Formats: sequence, C-alpha cells, structure tokens
Amino acid sequence: MGKIIAIANQKGGVGKTTTAINLSAALAEEGKKILVVDIDPQGNCTSGFGVDKNRQENTVYELLLDDCSINECMIRDVLKGIGDEKTSGIDLIPSNVNLAASEIELIGIPRKEFILRDALDYIKDDYDYVIMDCPPSLNVLTVNAMTAADSVIVPIQCEYYALEGLSQLIHTINLVKERLNRRLDIEGIVFTMYDARTNLSAQVVENVKQHVEQHIYETVIPRNIRLAEAPSYGEPITVYDKKSSGAAAYRELAKEVIAKDSGRGVN
Ligand SMILES: Nc1ncnc2c1ncn2[C@@H]1O[C@H](COP(=O)(O)OP(=O)(O)OP(=O)(O)O)[C@@H](O)[C@H]1O
Ligand SMILES: [Mg+2]
Repeated sequence: MGKIIAIANQKGGVGKTTTAINLSAALAEEGKKILVVDIDPQGNCTSGFGVDKNRQENTVYELLLDDCSINECMIRDVLKGIGDEKTSGIDLIPSNVNLAASEIELIGIPRKEFILRDALDYIKDDYDYVIMDCPPSLNVLTVNAMTAADSVIVPIQCEYYALEGLSQLIHTINLVKERLNRRLDIEGIVFTMYDARTNLSAQVVENVKQHVEQHIYETVIPRNIRLAEAPSYGEPITVYDKKSSGAAAYRELAKEVIAKDSGRGVN
C-alpha cells in the first residue's frame, strides 16, 4: 500500500522543496516507486526535476479543477535519461503559477478539500510513496495535501525563528485530523541547513527538541551548497553530486523513513 506524505511548513524557504526532491530521489535509489506531487504555484519542485513548468498542458491545477484526469497530468519517469537506473521510478505531477488562482476558483466547489485525496485514491497503490511538496502557507492547497496524506514531514530550518509558527502548523494538522482526515499523523520533524560551525544550529535543535513531542529524525540535513546548486541543473542531489554531504544526508533520511515504516525505527 502506498504511503502518502506531505512535506509542509507554512514558513517560506525552510527546505520543503529540497526535501521533497531529494528524499524522493533517495527513496527511489532504495528501489521504491515514487510519485511526487508539486502542489505549490511556485513550481520549484517541478523545475527541480528538470521539467519546464511553463510548457505543461496539464498540471495539478487542471486536476483540481477537474479539467484532466490524474493520468493525464502525470509525467512518467521524470528523470529518464538522467543519472542511472537508480533514478528511474519517479513520476511527477507538475505545477506552475496557474495554480495560484485555484484558491478563488475552488470557492463554492463541494468537497474541495477532498479533490486531491479522491484523485490519489485511484493510483496510490501503484507507488510505495507519494511525496507532496506544499506551498509556504496554510491555504486550500495545503489542506488538500493534508487531507490526502497519511502523514506530514515538517522541515525546520536551523535558524533563530525556527519555533515560530510551529505551534500553528501543529494546530492546523490537528484540525485537519479532527475534521477531514482521521488517519493524518506527523511523520517527523527534520532539521535542515544545519551549520556545524555555528553554535546557533546546535542550540536551535536543542530548543526544538525541548518544545515538541513529535518524532524528530536523527538525520540532520547539513547546509551544503551542492543542494542549492542541483535544482538549476534539474537534477536531484543523488545525481548532481552523489558524494556530497547533502546526498549522504538525504540517503540517511530515506533509510530512516523506510525503517520507521517497517516498524524498526525509533518511536
Ligand atoms: N541543506 C541546504 N543547504 C544549502 N541550501 C539549501 C539547503 N536546503 C535548501 N537550501 C536552499 O535554500 C532555499 C530554500 O529552500 P527550499 O526551496 O527547499 O525551501 P522551501 O521551504 O521549499 O521554500 P518555499 O517556502 O519558498 O517553497 C533554496 O535556495 C535552496 O536551494
Ligand atoms: Mg518550496
């Protein structure tokens, strides 16, 4: 059975997209079949996989507005021809700026929070993991993702304001759980852009650990310039620089995600 994971945090620039792309690629390396859903109008996840977001006839926008089927908006084997056979097995539902209008266009549509869930129901069992890259807000798009999801991974940037907004995010997740999706859980918190040279990063990790009860991944994603460069080449880090510290970290994270699923992980 496919597991659906939303990567969410309403704070901008905390590493959601970087995590969505590279966790997916690392899971694919482990032989998992992956569907990535870009549900952010910025389309960063789409372009990070080397797809020209402005030349897509069908995207998640058309899917939400019932203008196409889930198969019609899916790009199969998005990394075909890039890297080696280990990067195969990733399908992508792309997004672009058109999606920004959906908030208004969906007003009055019955069951608008359930559109993505209903669409994914058809195909989720074709995959081991469905990974959704959410926008930096708690809008109808994020709610659609959370309603479709089994769980949420929350990236937290190792910076001073890390905790700000976290309680609001947890509150939203709990509301969605109560009202729209009983099975929703927080999969875990992952620290991103950790800088081992500063005390601040270590302090932020300690501080968050003291304040949250949720599962925290042991893997910490380091600040690594190669992770920031990779999207401009349309490649995940496991292809762009497979020996980098960023690639190693996302491989570790993928192993933790899999281990937690098979009941061997902590918590
Ligand atoms: N571990 C890292 N090391 C270095 N740079 C990183 C790392 N993670 C992310 N970045 C860079 O930080 C910026 C923000 O990351 P990213 O786009 O993944 O965040 P986001 O949460 O998806 O942002 P948004 O809220 O706008 O969608 C990007 O330029 C990205 O390349
Ligand atoms: Mg993003």
